[in-house]
Amino acid sequence: MTMWEDVSKARIYFENRLSVRPEIAIILGTGLGNLAREIEITEEFAYSGIPGFKTSTVEGHSGKLLFGTLAGVPVMAMKGRFHYYEGYSMQEVTFPVRLMKQLGIKTLIVSNAAGGLNPDFVPGDIMLITDHINLFPENPLRGKNDDRFGARFPDMSKAYDRELIRKAENIAASHHISLRKGVYVGTQGPTYETLAEYRFFRIIGGDTVGMSTVPEVIVANHVGISCFGISVVGNVGLDASLSSVTHEEVQENTRTAQQKLNVLVREMVKEIGKA
Ligand code: HPA
Repeated sequence: MTMWEDVSKARIYFENRLSVRPEIAIILGTGLGNLAREIEITEEFAYSGIPGFKTSTVEGHSGKLLFGTLAGVPVMAMKGRFHYYEGYSMQEVTFPVRLMKQLGIKTLIVSNAAGGLNPDFVPGDIMLITDHINLFPENPLRGKNDDRFGARFPDMSKAYDRELIRKAENIAASHHISLRKGVYVGTQGPTYETLAEYRFFRIIGGDTVGMSTVPEVIVANHVGISCFGISVVGNVGLDASLSSVTHEEVQENTRTAQQKLNVLVREMVKEIGKA
């Protein structure tokens, strides 16, 4: 079976099970799952029951695909995602994005908890991702290309849609939400960085670093889905000389940013839904 056929199987599974036809998908990152509470859910599916989906294992992720409306706009949301460090292949990590394409998704909103590299950042900051640096050991598009998904050599010069970034800045201004903007460095994890690695990632141009998002955004670009990405700064790497990084700390700090993030994403969905 080709990947296209595997994805088609999952699409067919949803064919008679959905009462909404969303064009916007949201991936809720670590500690950001409470945005799901703002969604008026019409259908929800545990990953374990969806053909082609693997079961999410990491703490803080319950692994559900949600359908419903957010601010009246149809959306699909992933509560919990597949991380490469959990041992999933790049194909498994990005399977949901390929499914999104077949379900008619046009825009992907992706959030993550990340370490801050920019010394101006503080825990709880929200950063709009303007670009990324892929340091994963493998590209999800490696292997024979299926032109039904997209081109062999996809353009990545506009990986994060500029119009969406502009919209978010306008929304943030009118809601008095302070935003950062910058470059996300994607690494495989699961280790947090050594201090030398935090310095290195800063030197090569990063503002945040994390263990997700890049594979999904690569595949979204391949299949022609516009991306909007947000990092929530859970810890600031260069401060690691003062205190060590823990998953609990990252989750705690992302919770404080949650309120701002919820408003931003809800208003973004409203804006995109108008277009
Ligand atoms: N590094 C990598 N991933 C992360 C970090 C970090 O410091 N914080 C949250 N996710």
